[in-house]
Amino acid sequence: MHRQLKNLRHVISPLDLTVEELDQMMDLAEDMEANPEKYAHVCDGMKLAALFYEPSTRTRLSFESAMLNLGGQVIGFHSSDSSSATKGESVADTIRVLSCFADIAAMRHPKEGAAYVASINSEIPVINGGDGGHQHPTQTLADLCTIRKYKGRLNNLTVGICGDLKFGRTVHSLISALVRYTGVRFVLISPEELQLPSYVKENVLNANNIEYVEKIRLEEALPELDILYMTRVQKERFFNEEDYIRMKDFYILDKEKMKLAKEDMYVLHPLPRVNEISVEVDKDPRAAYFKQVYWGMYMRMALIFTLLELEVE
Ligand code: CP
Repeated sequence: MHRQLKNLRHVISPLDLTVEELDQMMDLAEDMEANPEKYAHVCDGMKLAALFYEPSTRTRLSFESAMLNLGGQVIGFHSSDSSSATKGESVADTIRVLSCFADIAAMRHPKEGAAYVASINSEIPVINGGDGGHQHPTQTLADLCTIRKYKGRLNNLTVGICGDLKFGRTVHSLISALVRYTGVRFVLISPEELQLPSYVKENVLNANNIEYVEKIRLEEALPELDILYMTRVQKERFFNEEDYIRMKDFYILDKEKMKLAKEDMYVLHPLPRVNEISVEVDKDPRAAYFKQVYWGMYMRMALIFTLLELEVE
C-alpha cells in the first residue's frame, strides 16, 4: 500500500510549483547537501518507480540516487522494450499498476503529454522526467538551483539560450520558470529552423511581457549575457537525418568564444553534450554544467521530500 497523502500532487511542468515552493526547495536541497544524515531515513520503507520509456543517464540515475539517499528503494524499467508497453499496455494502465507497488513515480516518455496522462490516472505523485519536446521540470530545478548558487539570485539576469530551442524541452521548462522572476530578459540564439516555438513565445514570453531578442550568431550575443544555457541539437526529434547533420555543429562554444563573455557569465548545459561545448571549456571556472548535475540530485531529493509530505525534526 502506498503512502497516504493529504494532497496528491504531480509535477508535469515547473508551473506546478509556486515560486515560493521553488525557493523553499532550493533551501531544502542546500540543507540536504550540508546535513545528509538528517534525511537519510525519511523514506524508509517507501519506493520510487522509475518508468523510463526513453534513454536517460542523469535524470534516471539522479532520481534513483535521490531516493536511495532518502532511505527509500527503487523499482522500474529503463526502456519501453523491457516493459509491457511492447505488448501494447497504455501509460494509464501502467501507472494504475505502479500505484499498487510504489509511493511515487518519475516518468520519461517520448510523447508530449504522456506524464500528464499518467498523472490523471495515478494514485501516487507523478513527476515528469521529460515528455517528448515538451517539458522537463526537474532539469529546471537543477538549472535554477545552479544559477542561484553561482549568481546569488534568479532575478535581474540576461539569460542567453543557445542551440535547439525548437525541440529542447529543457529550454521550454526553463523559460516558463524564469519568467516568474523580475527583471529576467532572454537572448534566444538559434538557427532559423530551430527557433523557439511560437506557442512558447506567445503563451509564455509575450503573455508575461518578457523582453527577448532572437539572434543567430553566438559571438554577437556573448558580451551581454549573465548566463549562457547551451543545448544539444535533439537528433531523436528530427524527421530527417540530412537536416540534423546540417544543424548539429552550428554552435561550438570554445576557449576563443569564452573570451567574449563577462568574467562572471556562467555556462550551463542540461547534458548530454555532443560537440556544442568544446572539452577545453570544462576547465574554465565559468563552466557550471557538471555542478548542475550535482545540484540536480539534491533538488530531486527535495522534490520527493515535498511531494511525499515528509518531515524532519
Ligand atoms: N539532462 C538530461 O535529461 O539528461 P539525461 O537525458 O541523461 O537524463
